[in-house]
Amino acid sequence: MSEKTKDVVETSEAEIAVHWQEEAYFHASPGFIGQANLTDESIFERFALKNFPDYYTEFAELLTWYKYWDEVLDSSDAPCFKWFKGGLINASYNCIDRHLKANKNKTAIHFVSELEDEAIQHITYQELYVRVNEFAALLRDTAKLKRGDRVTIHMPMSAELPITMLACSRLGVIHSVVFGGFSASACADRIVDSQSRVLITMDAYYRGGKLLNHKAVDEEACQIAAEGGQVVDTLLVWQRYPGKNSSDTPAVEGRDIIVNDELKKYYGVRVEPEKMLSEDPLFLMYTSGTTGKPKGCQHGTGGYLAYVTAMSKYIQDIHPEDVYWCMADIGWITGHSFIVYGPLALCASTVIYEGVPTYPDAGRCWRIAQALDVNIFHTAPTAIRALRKVGPDEPAKYTYNFKHMTTVGEPIEPEVWKWYQKEVGKEKAVIVDTWWQTETGGFLCSTVPGLQPMKPGSAGPGVPGIHPVIFDEDGNELPAGSGKAGNICIQNPWPGMFQTIWGDRPRFVKNYFERYCKNLDSKDWRDWPYLTGDAAVQAPDGYFRILGRIDDVINVSGHRLGTKEIESAALTVNEVAEAAVVPVAHEVKGKEPDLYVALKPGFKASDEIVKKIDEAITYQIGKIAKCRKIWIVPDMPKTRSGKIMRRVLGAISNHGDVGNVMTLANPEVVEEIKKMVG
Ligand code: WT7
Repeated sequence: MSEKTKDVVETSEAEIAVHWQEEAYFHASPGFIGQANLTDESIFERFALKNFPDYYTEFAELLTWYKYWDEVLDSSDAPCFKWFKGGLINASYNCIDRHLKANKNKTAIHFVSELEDEAIQHITYQELYVRVNEFAALLRDTAKLKRGDRVTIHMPMSAELPITMLACSRLGVIHSVVFGGFSASACADRIVDSQSRVLITMDAYYRGGKLLNHKAVDEEACQIAAEGGQVVDTLLVWQRYPGKNSSDTPAVEGRDIIVNDELKKYYGVRVEPEKMLSEDPLFLMYTSGTTGKPKGCQHGTGGYLAYVTAMSKYIQDIHPEDVYWCMADIGWITGHSFIVYGPLALCASTVIYEGVPTYPDAGRCWRIAQALDVNIFHTAPTAIRALRKVGPDEPAKYTYNFKHMTTVGEPIEPEVWKWYQKEVGKEKAVIVDTWWQTETGGFLCSTVPGLQPMKPGSAGPGVPGIHPVIFDEDGNELPAGSGKAGNICIQNPWPGMFQTIWGDRPRFVKNYFERYCKNLDSKDWRDWPYLTGDAAVQAPDGYFRILGRIDDVINVSGHRLGTKEIESAALTVNEVAEAAVVPVAHEVKGKEPDLYVALKPGFKASDEIVKKIDEAITYQIGKIAKCRKIWIVPDMPKTRSGKIMRRVLGAISNHGDVGNVMTLANPEVVEEIKKMVG
């Protein structure tokens, strides 16, 4: 184990674990339990490790297959596991076509504009079918995309985004959706890495009341990608207002195609869904890790879809008659799994909201819930904290009826959980705190809402079929109730797990398995515990409490930022010699990055340099990576071997105890920095 990881687990995390107070349980109402999808306790016995992997056929049977699988799990290429091998399936068919017979007039998607006076769009399953088919034809015939090609999608929250994704999956084209708020440069990196010759965008969208020119960002992304060696030969541009251009960025002849015009050629065209192998990739989702470059998590088709459908049914408790609103952005894994694929596979109505949850005021979310009769609500602690801060009494002013709520993305403070339960859930809704990751496709830990009580601040035990374990640095298991924090791993593979890092299998093995794998040549799944990168502690009742990342990742507003990515951005500024990012606690966002930089000899600190660094970060990554403060320090605190002591900087930023710094190479600088930060 690296020196740094050891530091973290042994000091701050362990202390948190020891000082952690157990919370009392909350129980679901008999009314909820009476209607819940999963109330049969025998699930835990059926999904015991001794029955692995066959229990997962229960999940796969929720889907419609062209041909059933020959083998549930193929481990011959471990840790690149293949699920439901030999099975043939199409994700678009499962999310649309199979519902038409009974439910074609049911709403599949409610699209809510940020502008409150714009009518809500209600898109039926039949309409979704027509639009996905026509757009798939365009992708095939105009953009010349075929099975196995990658396409980058850089779109805002809109009904056209799931239409685009489902059209890709209909053709077997691997989509790579990049969060709309990412900068041109971040988008370009993903275009290059996935070798996408087609980029799909939208001309504009509303954010905080302003119509933003999004096409301009992708114009620049195309230029940067070309410099990086990947030419975008086709840029497909959806219009925010069909028939009208909302961006004044000029079109490039021969490259740009206005989708809404081009679609007229495909009126009424139908495209047969491709019969994909279960293990064919469905999409890539880039995420931050321990190195400067984001990695493309590759998710498969049959396994992923089976897993998210089962999680949507059993943990989210989605029934076809439910109106389900997940407030995440589709550009993150939560949106892929729990706005698009899971709810649509179950024939529910899913809500897509374009803008800021508190625009134009703190009551907006609850008005949407009231207008659409939303009964399942899914969001992140950062949004809950923000809503609680700006409008603690707002929910009470509206009439809506949530039966179920989710929190996801970061640890939730018990106080915030209780506000969510009382004010937003009106003491009626159950809450699930779902712990998982981009890599995992779906949930790892959560309570089963109809079977297990809730405990504020704890995610819960592993979901059925997931068998977590906490290891200390030597690989010893820390049992429930040990009071010690360690690295939480998953003992078994599962169908929703990513297949590899796109184009980088060695990194996949190194980052996620090497740490606790005893035999790197093993073909036995038991030898490949999955390292999540989180620290956790397990209470005597078996519930896991997630403490946070043990690697170089900061969780800002439930979004993952790599400290190395921010540091690399800062280092693009000529004057900067060294950069170090540390997380600082923030009351709404959870964490925020603080950036320390040391300049090259001959340069003096100035507001101008700070501004340059700030701009470089926005340029390279986007506004989401904005640092709370950029501190230009005379020198970085370092060990004698020259390693920057981020832990010391973190303690200074958080006004904590820096500990004994006398063994550092330059202890005097610690005092100087402390004075500066105050
Ligand atoms: C990291 C994954 C899960 C989808 C959205 C974020 C943290 C996630 C929880 C939770 C405490 C959580 C972990 C994890 N995290 N959910 N319920 N309680 N922490 O996906 O961007 O891949 O981030 O988010 O640290 O490793 P992601």
